[in-house]
Amino acid sequence: MTGQVRGSQLARLLGQWHALPGRRRSPDYAALAGAVRGLLADGRLPLGVRLPAERELAEALRISRTTVTAAYRELRETGHLASRRGAGSWTMLPGNHRVASTGLWTPLDDREMIDLGVAALAAPPQLLTAARAAAEDLPRYLGGAGYHPTGIIELREAVADGYTARGLPTSADQIMVTSGTQHALDLVLRLALAPGGSVLVESPTYPNALAALAGRRARITTHGLAADAGGWESDLLLGSLRQTRPKLAYLIPEFQNPTGHLMPASLREHVVAAAHAVGTDLIIDESFVDLPLDGTELPPPTATFDRHSRVVSIGGMSKPYWGGLRIGWVRASAPQVQRLAAVRVGVDMASPVLDQLVAVHLLADAPAIVADRRTQLAAQRDALLGALAQRLPDWRVTVPRGGVTLWAELDGPVSSALARAAEDVGVRLAPGPRFGLDGTLERFLRLPFTLPAAELVEAVGRIAAVRYDLDRTGRQRWREPAVIA
Ligand SMILES: Cc1ncc(COP(=O)(O)O)c(C=O)c1O
Repeated sequence: MTGQVRGSQLARLLGQWHALPGRRRSPDYAALAGAVRGLLADGRLPLGVRLPAERELAEALRISRTTVTAAYRELRETGHLASRRGAGSWTMLPGNHRVASTGLWTPLDDREMIDLGVAALAAPPQLLTAARAAAEDLPRYLGGAGYHPTGIIELREAVADGYTARGLPTSADQIMVTSGTQHALDLVLRLALAPGGSVLVESPTYPNALAALAGRRARITTHGLAADAGGWESDLLLGSLRQTRPKLAYLIPEFQNPTGHLMPASLREHVVAAAHAVGTDLIIDESFVDLPLDGTELPPPTATFDRHSRVVSIGGMSKPYWGGLRIGWVRASAPQVQRLAAVRVGVDMASPVLDQLVAVHLLADAPAIVADRRTQLAAQRDALLGALAQRLPDWRVTVPRGGVTLWAELDGPVSSALARAAEDVGVRLAPGPRFGLDGTLERFLRLPFTLPAAELVEAVGRIAAVRYDLDRTGRQRWREPAVIA
C-alpha cells in the first residue's frame, strides 16, 4: 500500500479522459474506467493506492456520481480495483499481468503488440561471442569470493580508457561499475541527496530518473526544453541554477531522452561554472554518448569543464550494446567512488562478475559494434521520419542527430488519448505526460526508433488510423485555445 490519491490529483492525471469521439465512442463510465486502466498501464498511477471516494472524484471531474460508481464497478470487474466496504478502493492488476522491462505494466499475451514504449535495441550478434569468451575467462575469478564493490579491474580500466579517449583523462579508481545506469543514478542519489533535497531536472526528462528522485523524496524543479533544435535555453537554465540553488541537477546532454537534443560545448562549460558558483552538484547522464548519427561531432564531455569534483558522470552499456546486460558505471573522483562503494554494499554488494566479463569483451570490440548500431539506428530513424511525414504530416519533429528517440509535437493535446486508442490496435506508446511531472506535455509523444524499420512504418500507419478516429467528432474543441481573461 503506497497511500492515497486525492480527487483533484486523479482528475489532473486523467486529463482529457472523456469518451473518444468517433466510431469507438463508448459511454462515459467506460471511458473513465479505460482512462484509469491507461494510467495504471503506463505507471502514472501506482498499484496499491487508494482511489478517491466516488463522491469526491465526481466533484473533481464535474460528472455525476453514478458515472463514477459505474466506472469503479467496471474496474472491479476487470480486476483493476479491490474494494472493501467502509475502507475504500485500491488499485491492482488482474492476475495475468507483469512488470515489463520498462517498468510499465503489460499483459503477458501481447506478442502482436508493437512496443514503442521501450527505447532500446535488441542485442547485437556479437553478444553471444562475448558471452562465450567471458565464460572462458571466468576461471581466473573463481578462486576469489567474487565481490568487487567498485567492479572488476579489467572493466574499470576499459571504461576509464573510454573516457580518456573522449578527451577526459580518467583512471580506473575513478570508475565504479554498477548494475545499469539506473542503478548508478540511484546510488549517487543515496550518497548525495538527503530526503527532501532539491533537484533540478530537464522537462521533459527520462521517467525512471523521475521515479528514482521520487524514491528519494526529492523536491524537483524543472527546466523546460524547447521543442525545436536548440533544446536548452541557456539564460533560463543558468538563471534557474542561480535562483533555485538546487542541491543537485540531473541532465542528459547527449541526445537527451526523450527530445534527442545535444547540448553545445559552451553551455556545458557555463552550466558547470554556474553549478560550482551556487554549490550544486551535477549528475550527467551519458546514456546515449556512443550514438551520434550522421557523423555528428560530439562536444567535449561535460566533466572536462569540472575543476572542483562537481560533476558525477553516469553511463552504461544498455543503449549501444544491450539493456539485458545490466552494466553501467559512475565516473567521479576516487574518494567519491570509495564513498559510493560504501553505500553500495548496503544495497547489492557488487555486480555479477560474469556479466562484467561479457562487458569487457564487448568493449574490446566497441568500434565495430557501435558503428553497426549507428548505421542501423540512422536507417530506422529515417524510416520513422518518412512514415510520419507521409501519414501524420501535421506533426512536427526535429530530426535527432543521435540517440534512439524523437519527440514529436502533435497536432493537439491528445497524447494520452492516443496512447489508449493505439493500445487497441496493437501499438504501445509512452505518452508525453510520462516524461514530465505535472500532467502537461499532452501535445508531445516520444517515438523510439529502436525497432526494425518495417515495424516502425506499420506502427505509424496504425497510429495515424486511430489519430484520425479521435478527430471524427468534436473536431475543433482543442484547436482554438479558450480566451483567459
Ligand atoms: C537517460 C537514461 N538514463 C538511464 C537509463 C537506464 O539505463 P540502464 O538500462 O543502463 O539502467 C535510460 C534507459 O532508457 C536512459 O534513457
